[in-house]
Amino acid sequence: MERLDKLVSSVFGLSRREAQAAVRQGRVEVSGAPIRLPETKVDPAAPIALDGEEGAYARYVYIMLDKPAGYVSATEDSRDPTVLELLPELYLKRKLGVAGRLDKDATGLLLLTDDGTLNHRLTSPRYHLDKRYDVRLDYPAREKDVRVFAEGMDLGDFTAMPGLLEIDPLDPTHCFVTIREGKFHQVKRMFEKCGRRVLALRRVAMGGLLLDEALGEGGFRLLTAQEIQYLTEKCAIKQESQK
Ligand code: URA
Repeated sequence: MERLDKLVSSVFGLSRREAQAAVRQGRVEVSGAPIRLPETKVDPAAPIALDGEEGAYARYVYIMLDKPAGYVSATEDSRDPTVLELLPELYLKRKLGVAGRLDKDATGLLLLTDDGTLNHRLTSPRYHLDKRYDVRLDYPAREKDVRVFAEGMDLGDFTAMPGLLEIDPLDPTHCFVTIREGKFHQVKRMFEKCGRRVLALRRVAMGGLLLDEALGEGGFRLLTAQEIQYLTEKCAIKQESQK
């Protein structure tokens, strides 16, 4: 059960004060009946309406963003624009966190959620999901690089787990890389080890969750119920197997 004013505030994007005023004015109905006390505890799954307009409540939001270059994957930054600036006001009232950062110059699949448990699991090495990147290099990748990636490599401060390097046979400066961890600059550093520089990096998948290419850079959408269920189950299954 949830306090009505809190619910009205998150469903309709109002401040708590505005929500309380709306409730007291009799403008809010729960399951078709007006309730005038802001502190009333109601079922968050019950139909709720403001001025006759139905709202849909979601306890948490799960957002897929196609991150453009030039934005930092943080919720605040003193110098650069953050990915939150790409979202409408409505979502900024939530305490969103980024699940798995991308470098400022990288693009593609970024997940934002206020579901702290899932966020933690998505980014924790204990529950990792494979991340797949579309990469452009300065010089062609070679078959021997595939083996170097497959063996895992010493990057100084840590040893990267084995990764999958797939080279585009028609253009070997274009590859796909799949890795388990998501350490700072990891893909760039793995290619540096092979004497190659990453010119462009785009995340296209996290496990079975694929970037919706219809969004276009800077575009976003909420995850579907199936996508949320997939991530939740994937993280829970990982936890079981760790026991
Ligand atoms: N690897 C990198 O080098 N950068 C990213 O943003 C993600 C993975």
